[in-house]
Amino acid sequence: MQVPDIIIAVDGYSSTGKSTLAKLIAKEFGFLYLDSGAMYRGVTLFAQENGLIDKDSVISPKLEKALEGLDLYFGQDGTYIGDRCIEKLIRTMGVSSQVSPISAVPYVRNFVDDRLHDMAKAGRVVMDGRDIGTTVFPNAELKIFMVASDQVRAQRRFDELVAKGENPSFDEVLANLKERDYIDSHREASPLSRAADAYVMDNSDMTIKEELEWVRGVIQGKLGILE
Ligand code: DC
Repeated sequence: MQVPDIIIAVDGYSSTGKSTLAKLIAKEFGFLYLDSGAMYRGVTLFAQENGLIDKDSVISPKLEKALEGLDLYFGQDGTYIGDRCIEKLIRTMGVSSQVSPISAVPYVRNFVDDRLHDMAKAGRVVMDGRDIGTTVFPNAELKIFMVASDQVRAQRRFDELVAKGENPSFDEVLANLKERDYIDSHREASPLSRAADAYVMDNSDMTIKEELEWVRGVIQGKLGILE
């Protein structure tokens, strides 16, 4: 199927499989994949390593100025700060537990949005996040909003962490998910919400193959592509 140069926004709650689907769309249709959450995770790690957020998630006002010197980007092996690959570090529970307060800060959102706009200049991009279809690219030609049950999401996240050698408790993972959902959807700056023109996918009981078929169907219907 020939898909034109459009922007595809994949938003939704934590651990609904947004990145898995977005990566698959990128591979299948030859799109550039951009993981907006990784940018927020990168800023979180930067704040932690520079003592700009404390253990109670109180954020130092110095973070705003410090961001001017932050060289955060996507490189060969994922996310980088300068020449250091931080891809693994940003996926740990330590970062996950403080990323929501960081991403609620308006100047942090501006910092990330600027980078996302820059990287998507050429078009033909699939981007996943929380506010891509509402704020970052409100004119995206295709918007998908993903949901799945709490238990299914927590199990996915738990399995992912175990596979990476972490030793989380299931209840802790579930609590972190719910807490992030709450903060992400109740913050003032660009909260997680479904764009009115987004197609909702509940993938609690879907295989990845079924998800891709669903996307094909939506693209065909929406863009009028005949195979
Ligand atoms: O997709 P993720 O779990 O890696 O995202 C990490 C956090 O970043 C998430 O808790 C909320 C925030 N985020 C956001 O506020 N806006 C986005 N577009 C993407 C992520």
